[in-house]
Amino acid sequence: MQIKVSKRHHLQQVNIQLSGAKNALLHLLFASLLTEDTTTLTNVPSSLRDYHAVCDILLAIGARVNSMDDIVAITAPQKISQIDVSSSYTRRTRTSLMLLGALAKKVGILSIGHPGGCSFSEQRPFDIHLHGFEALGARVTYDDYHITIEHIADKEVEHTLRYPSVGASINLMLYAVLGSREVTLHNIALEPEVIEVASFLNYAGAQIKIDHHQRIMSIKGVERLSGVNFRVMYDRIQTMTYAALAYLHKLDVCVEGVNTKEYIAKPLQVLKEMGAKWRFEPDKNRIYFQGSKSVLKPTRITAMPYPEFATDLQPVFAVMCIQAQGVSEITDTVYPERIKYVDELRKLNFPIECQQGKIRIFGGEPYTLHAATMKSYDLRAGMAVVMGASLSDQVCTISSAEQVFRGYENLLENMTHFMHISIDTGE
Ligand code: EPU
Repeated sequence: MQIKVSKRHHLQQVNIQLSGAKNALLHLLFASLLTEDTTTLTNVPSSLRDYHAVCDILLAIGARVNSMDDIVAITAPQKISQIDVSSSYTRRTRTSLMLLGALAKKVGILSIGHPGGCSFSEQRPFDIHLHGFEALGARVTYDDYHITIEHIADKEVEHTLRYPSVGASINLMLYAVLGSREVTLHNIALEPEVIEVASFLNYAGAQIKIDHHQRIMSIKGVERLSGVNFRVMYDRIQTMTYAALAYLHKLDVCVEGVNTKEYIAKPLQVLKEMGAKWRFEPDKNRIYFQGSKSVLKPTRITAMPYPEFATDLQPVFAVMCIQAQGVSEITDTVYPERIKYVDELRKLNFPIECQQGKIRIFGGEPYTLHAATMKSYDLRAGMAVVMGASLSDQVCTISSAEQVFRGYENLLENMTHFMHISIDTGE
């Protein structure tokens, strides 16, 4: 899919109604397979492509999925015998890996195709997931096409993750939650989406404790989990993308549906240090990004695991830094290879470069952006390219734009407040 983007003049204050978080929702959908009765999720961003990819996987394994507006009800299949989920399903999302944790104990033996997801890296490894399963009592084998897991026995075990991986922390939690033993995981990821899945499971009857200070998760296996009604947390990455758009276009943007600023504390701190003005109104569940009154100073950002600055935000903050009066510098330690968008932005004449893993944005200088055809390599890189194009008076074309639709709810409607944007029908 291609989209066309160019600058929109005379912008006015924007109000965005925020949706639930993609990265919480996708994992919660798989976690719902562990509950015995129907589970209902609300605040679901149902326009997202990744949501539909996961629903298709759930349907393929025999689950019932009933969705209406922003609500979805999932009923796990009563009986699951051996399952083989092909890569035509699993390659549509990285979270298809969660089938392993959610179903291995129910099914006994399970085989899935390799996962897909964002293509900012040639290889997004899953060794931390597989080593964890083995430590927790499973036999794991894989080849170029399939990953197979066989649950052998519950084990009372302490296991340390090599890196605080979001997906592996959730996958191992899903695996350990039903059972007869206690599992202790060290060096877990503390991203709010991981905590959200733990809260969901506890609400359904699990016994999971998290020591945030030490990065330890203790899971006492339980016999069963019951179905629950659960509201998906707000999307912190979408929130801060709208923040970046506010300061990029010097526009006031109100994001509604933000009930805590805890999840966005680090990027808010970065903005404050840059001189950006914002106001959180907890009683109204909203945050104002006061782009019209803000003059930005340059910054240095290092993306690291939560509670540090999120890797998902570095591409969109990089584009915003064009408005800072000086040179900003960004490094991504989580996905150092998430830099392909820099070359795409340079096609526009956007003042950005990347050398030895350091992204530099030369703000404060006069610039003229060209028309360009750019590729969206992944979801957040795609948004960075869209944002860059929204500064150009000439019409830009963005290919592989379906990537951006994977993670931004009501994309065209919401972006149209900031830019001219339309699907390229080829006419
Ligand atoms: N890693 C390994 N081995 C593994 C797993 C991860 O080496 O088995 C490495 C990765 O290569 C990476 C680091 O560990 O260098 C972090 O990866 P992590 O497992 O935490 O990422 P993920 O669970 O695959 C989720 C989000 C990503 C987000 C990362 C980091 C979802 C669906 N995806 O991915 O979000 O960038 O955590 O916070 O939750 C996005 O929304 O655009 C997106 C890509």
